Formats: sequence, C-alpha cells, structure tokens
Amino acid sequence: LAHPDAPAPADALTVPATRATGCPFDPAPTVERARREEPVTRATLWDGSSCWLVTRHEDVRTVLGDPRFSADAARPGFPFLTAGLRELATGTRASRTFIRQDDPEHARLRRMLTAEFMVKKVEAMRPEVQRLTDELLDAMTDGRNSADLVAEFALPLPSLVICLLLGVPYDDHAFFQQRSAVLLSLRSTAEEARAASDELLAYMTQLAEAKRERPDDGIFSRLVARGELDSQEIASMGRLLLIAGHETTANMTALSTLALLRNPGQQARLRSEPSLIKGAVEELLRYLTIVHNGVPRVAVEDVTLGGTTIRAGEGVLCALNAANRDEAVFPGGDTLDVGRDARRHIAFGFGVHQCLGQPLARVELQIALETLLRRLPELRLAVPFEEIPFRHDMGIYGVHALPVAW
Ligand code: HEM
Repeated sequence: LAHPDAPAPADALTVPATRATGCPFDPAPTVERARREEPVTRATLWDGSSCWLVTRHEDVRTVLGDPRFSADAARPGFPFLTAGLRELATGTRASRTFIRQDDPEHARLRRMLTAEFMVKKVEAMRPEVQRLTDELLDAMTDGRNSADLVAEFALPLPSLVICLLLGVPYDDHAFFQQRSAVLLSLRSTAEEARAASDELLAYMTQLAEAKRERPDDGIFSRLVARGELDSQEIASMGRLLLIAGHETTANMTALSTLALLRNPGQQARLRSEPSLIKGAVEELLRYLTIVHNGVPRVAVEDVTLGGTTIRAGEGVLCALNAANRDEAVFPGGDTLDVGRDARRHIAFGFGVHQCLGQPLARVELQIALETLLRRLPELRLAVPFEEIPFRHDMGIYGVHALPVAW
C-alpha cells in the first residue's frame, strides 16, 4: 500500500463517494467493492488529502471501540468530510462539542445528558409523540390526497419533539432548519458554514439567557441551572442536540417510507403484522444507514487492523453503511427484510460515542411509520421514482422531498 503522503492514483476511492450509478438505497459501488476486495483501504477526500476507509463490520467496531482512535477533530490528521466541518473544528472560533472530543472531556459533557435520553424517560413520551404524529397527519390529509411527506410530516415531527424536549420555540423552526441544512451540506463553503454556525450559537446563547431568567422544564433550562458549563459550552451543546435531534430522524422517516413503498412485499408484511414494527425499524436503520459518508477518527498510535498498519496521525473513516451490509453479519444484507434480526447494526455508531439520542429516534420512528401505514392504506408515490431528489449532497442521507398520494 502507498504511503499516505504519496499522491493518490487516479482510480483511487474518493469520499464522500458518489452513488450516481447504483441503487440509491445501497452504499456507493466503490465503497461496496472496497469491503469485498480491500476492507481497510486508502481513500482520497474531497480536498485531495487521503485517509483510510474501513468497511467491514468487525473492523469498524474495532476502530470505534478502541481509544487509540481519537474522535478529537482538533488533532492533526483528522479527516473532514466537508470544508464547513473543517472550518468549524479548526477555524479561529472553533466551537467544539463532545461528539468530536475524547474522554475524559467527552464523558464529562455527555454525562450531563444521559438521564435525559434514557430509555425509560423517552418511552414515557410515547403518548405525546403519538399525539403530534396524529396532528400532523390530520393536517396533511385534511381535504387533500397528496403532499410532500418531508415538509409536512417527516421533518416537522422530530423538530417538534426536540423543541419540546429542549425548550426551544418551534416557531423558530425555519431559522434553525435552514442553518442546520447549511452545516450538513457537502457543498457549503467554509464561510457559509461559519456564518450558519455563528448564527445558531448566538441563538442558543440568547436562549440560555432567557432560560436563566425564566426556567422551564426543558433540557436546556436544566443544563443552564447546573451551573457547570460556560455559555460557549451550553450554546454548542444546544446546537448539537437541536441539529442531531431533528435532521437524522426526519431523514430516516422519509427514506424508510420510500424504501417500504419500493418493497411492496415488505410493506404488506408490516401492515399485516404491526407487531413487527420494532424489528422493522432496526432493519431500516441497518439497510438505509443515513450517516452514509463515514464516521471520522484519527489514530493516536500505530494500530494494525486487518493486517494493515495505520500510523499515528492518519485519519480513518468508518463506513457504517458498508459495515451494515457486511454478509459476515447480515446474510443477504443487500435485501430489506423486516423480519430480520438486525440488532447488531451500527447505524447509531459504536463505542463511547454511540448515539445518545437513539432511544428517542426509535420511539419516533416506530410511531411515525406504524401510524403512517395504518392511517394511509393507499399511500403511494405521486411522481416516478426516478424523479425523487436523493440527498447525495448532504452529510445525512435521505430525500429532499417525497411527493406522495393516498
Ligand atoms: C451520535 C446516528 C438520532 C444525538 C451519533 C452517531 C451516529 C448517530 C452514527 C455517532 C457519531 C460518532 O461516533 O462520531 C444517528 C441516527 C439517528 C440519530 C442514524 C436517527 C435515526 C439522534 C437524535 C438525537 C441524537 C434524535 C437527539 C438529540 C446524538 C448525539 C451524539 C450522537 C448527542 C453524540 C454522542 C457522543 O459523542 O457521545 N448519532 N443519530 N441522535 N447522536 Fe445520533
């Protein structure tokens, strides 16, 4: 294998990889090929720098579970998926969050939130999530038989829920959804990402002040009241939760709906056996793996992985989407099977950074999909499949719009 500083050959694997030629639900063909032929391989990033791409389920778990791989974006060699992410981590006003920090700092900050997202606490929100789901579907179907499912259901539902939990006014959703989209776009320039980030941080700082004066029973008020975080830490934590809390689940909801519409047999099975919903959500998380460009780490020591030596200071991207199709763990993994036991999927990551919000995402997805199928038995696409705008340009995969009819 070439030394990381050597120029990449012309046919090198590039990341973010493009799916242009393949099935839009599958990982990019180049990434799939890497898993089959060279599971720990060199890849070229958008900015011409290179890093390792790790594609097998076992190897991805090794990297994400091993403290010799750091999530600290301030370390030299850390691989950035976009100019915006690089600017936010290394720019002059870098505002860091625990998702890109290592223990003990990561653990100190994450611990302040674990009680908020515990399964028991989140399960108690089911009636509220169901109520919001029904209200959105009532409004969407009122006197009409078609709509954009993203704009009217998939995006508002998790946005409403995270606003409620955090204590953020939902009336501001246009503001924070637009800034989140800029931060998640692969096309944003460093300047655009910086501006969006600054605006979100300023918004969060102002909100923290408001909560200090008039506390409510949201997470944000409790964080402020603890008095352990400075205003910069509070603002970045609020921004992380707000973005992670709505973009991810929104895209999973829309993309799952589309996947079920494209797999009528699976859809029929889920309609006739609604008790399958929990397992079906895990299978959809596995099959669709919306965190699709790889989870970044940097080696802090030399580590040998699958016979390949990764040197200290070299960047690594863990391709969750390829790992979740690994035949060694999921036989027939390229097929969606709502009856499969998919619990070993790593769509929420693995190790100390494993998704904090996963109990919430599960509750939202289970309720959203079960209710959608139950209430709209005639649900179908309103445009040809080929016209669906997939989010190839975004850090979180999904569809920009999903025109449906019923
Ligand atoms: C971390 C995926 C929903 C909050 C992560 C990571 C993944 C992920 C892959 C690990 C990143 C890494 O290791 O670098 C998803 C998916 C979701 C989802 C697929 C929905 C389907 C949510 C929700 C929240 C949330 C609803 C709510 C607040 C977080 C936070 C972290 C995280 C705070 C950082 C955890 C840490 O660094 O310790 N998520 N997520 N996520 N997620 Fe999620």
